[in-house]
Amino acid sequence: MTKSPSAESYRATLVPALHEIQDTHGYLTPAALREYSQRVGVPLYRLQAVASFFPHFRLSPPKKVTVRVCRDMACHLAGSGGMLDALRSLEEGGQVAVEGASCLGRCDRAPSTSVAVVGEHGEHYYHGRSGDDLRGIVMGALQSSLPPSDSDASHAGPYGVSRIDAYDGGAREYLAVRKVLAARDASLAAAEEILRTQKNWDFERVRQFRLGALRQRRTDSPLAPEVAEAVREW
Ligand code: FES
Repeated sequence: MTKSPSAESYRATLVPALHEIQDTHGYLTPAALREYSQRVGVPLYRLQAVASFFPHFRLSPPKKVTVRVCRDMACHLAGSGGMLDALRSLEEGGQVAVEGASCLGRCDRAPSTSVAVVGEHGEHYYHGRSGDDLRGIVMGALQSSLPPSDSDASHAGPYGVSRIDAYDGGAREYLAVRKVLAARDASLAAAEEILRTQKNWDFERVRQFRLGALRQRRTDSPLAPEVAEAVREW
């Protein structure tokens, strides 16, 4: 009798196995899922649960090119909704699917997009591109000349470092929130300056103060009394 895999081995083998099926057939065909289910003893409903959870698994035959535009918060604020609408016209020829997607993990370079081409392993990712850029990328993909994914190697970002700012919109967007955050940061910087210069606090105690003030401490251990007092005063 086939022994059922443990929960641990599900984690280790299921997703790679589904990737392999998708790479072989272009999508997760019912026959291939049934065959895998019987061969390894994983119930079919479990395969379907995993397959439907991850957006990059396809349960029906794909178009030649599938474009996914992230619709989650950072990308939404960076205009992904309008980009998605503008790209929909690419579907007219019947070879391209344009879909919304959940966070692609590159919120710092929003809006993020993935492009998958039938017959190619994996997906390509493009970040912070314009609608026209993506249109050109898709046209290239249709001619089998897809540019390489955007890498981080040459990307310094507008501030020279990676930075996530969900409120970095136009001048009138989230104005109140941005003013509150700016006031808080200025007040915090002034308090830190006092602790450093007038109380001679070292780097670590000032850091603890900042974490305590922003409630970003990752442990439940209490703040040192003088740090807690400084947070209270601030
Ligand atoms: S919100 Fe779009 S990549 Fe995270």
